[in-house]
Amino acid sequence: MFLSFFDHYFYKSLKNTNDEAKKINLLNKRNIAVYTNFQSKGRGRKQREWKSSAGDLTCSFLIKNVINVNDLGKINLLIVNSVINILKYIGIKNIKYKWPNDIFIQDKKLAGILIETTISRSTINEIIIGIGINFVAKRIANSIPTISLSELNCRVDTLKVFFLISFNINLFINSLKHIDYEVISDNLTKNFFSKSKLLTINAANSKYSGNFVKVNSFGELIIKEKNDVKVISYGEIL
Ligand code: BTN
Repeated sequence: MFLSFFDHYFYKSLKNTNDEAKKINLLNKRNIAVYTNFQSKGRGRKQREWKSSAGDLTCSFLIKNVINVNDLGKINLLIVNSVINILKYIGIKNIKYKWPNDIFIQDKKLAGILIETTISRSTINEIIIGIGINFVAKRIANSIPTISLSELNCRVDTLKVFFLISFNINLFINSLKHIDYEVISDNLTKNFFSKSKLLTINAANSKYSGNFVKVNSFGELIIKEKNDVKVISYGEIL
């Protein structure tokens, strides 16, 4: 019998799928996937609010005992790449990637990813990947203009996309050592959001400002500040 990599949980409404996954984790030893039709108290990176409407995709995937802290950037690359490939598969074109984990269409935000971890002795015990994709919402969040799949005339079932993401995570987690990260970094570099604009990145201990060079195969952002090349790791901006 085929045993899924995740135990899947479904809710009509929830405060927050990342928090629900953490709660379920106290009782369940397996990997956990949480889906809700309406999330009322979503959060984004840097404690920003993530607003959704009923019918948007809001889901989380909690994975146990997988990786070293230094591999977090690579996991981020894989997640972003999977979501982009799924969006392409359902017919979305001209998808742009904004480092570290935002997806834009026509200069408007379509999807965001929030990765949280529990760490001890440089090993990640649990990684929680929260994904929000605007299916129906029309709203301005944190003054960032947004767009939804319905505005792009894409009518697709949120559950279908949820299962596609679940399946993709399963595939890549089982083949982490065999993946060609260069191919993924080239793809994300090619589709980088507003390549020619000056980028400003607020990291934990410093602020960077410079021109985009590439996203490398470790999931690090490379920028040029005057004549200096700066490498910004995923861990620095968590
Ligand atoms: C961001 O753009 O800063 C990340 C947004 C992540 C939103 C998703 S929706 C499901 C999960 N639950 C949350 O509260 N956040 C993530």
